[in-house]
Amino acid sequence: MISIHQLYKTYHRGSESVEAVSGIDLEIIKGEFMVILGPSGGGKSTLLNLIGGIDHPTAGTITMNGFALETASEESLTRFRRDHIGFVFQFYNLLSSLNAIENVSMPLMAKGIAFKQAKAKAVQILTRIGLEKRLHHRPSELSGGEQQRVAIARSIISEPELILADEPTGDLDSLNAQAIIALMHELNKQMGLTFVVATHNLRLAENADRVVELRDGKIQPNHIDKTK
Ligand SMILES: Nc1ncnc2c1ncn2[C@@H]1O[C@H](COP(=O)(O)OP(=O)(O)OP(=O)(O)O)[C@@H](O)[C@H]1O
Ligand SMILES: [Mg+2]
Repeated sequence: MISIHQLYKTYHRGSESVEAVSGIDLEIIKGEFMVILGPSGGGKSTLLNLIGGIDHPTAGTITMNGFALETASEESLTRFRRDHIGFVFQFYNLLSSLNAIENVSMPLMAKGIAFKQAKAKAVQILTRIGLEKRLHHRPSELSGGEQQRVAIARSIISEPELILADEPTGDLDSLNAQAIIALMHELNKQMGLTFVVATHNLRLAENADRVVELRDGKIQPNHIDKTK
């Protein structure tokens, strides 16, 4: 689904430069659950941002179903993100003035779908993930675990091919973290959604199809691969 070839991202800060991603080759297979582990500063977020078309690579190629991200215009990248990628972040990034239904409806509204239709689908997804009693709650009225479930519902509502999750359990206690991990695995198995998850949480790696370790922007050779 995604082919990454000799990918580099160099950041410049004054006279210093940091090679955050340094010559990565990687294939992401449709339907897999991939976990990216590695120390702080290893390049996990940078790699996710490159895959999601949020950031531009310094060199190399990154192709999703034939679409070349590295040469795409801002406009087509915006469309690419909207139509193909779901994002989940550590701090949920929900809109504080909107309730759960409204937050989850946002990606469909952005596509020009009427609120009534978007709302029906949002209710359906929120119910499916066990939040049927929290539909009208705003983020401040939800626990961290519930907020992350709302964020996951938002990430899947427009049926993206790929979910990119950056430290999705980083702000949760271990019980809530376990629930979020279980939910992501369930969505992966039942809906065939492809996941790429960057984390420090080793529990996330336990049931992954593939664990890739990033250090100094490079993939370490001894990673686990159950896809072969
Ligand atoms: N916008 C930026 N400008 C300059 N340097 C950056 C920028 N973003 C990241 N870096 C540097 O790139 C390297 C990789 O950062 P990145 O955020 O990808 O690491 P990470 O693996 O996600 O770390 P963490 O586990 O702490 O989230 C770090 O050395 C960081 O300082
Ligand atoms: Mg990070």
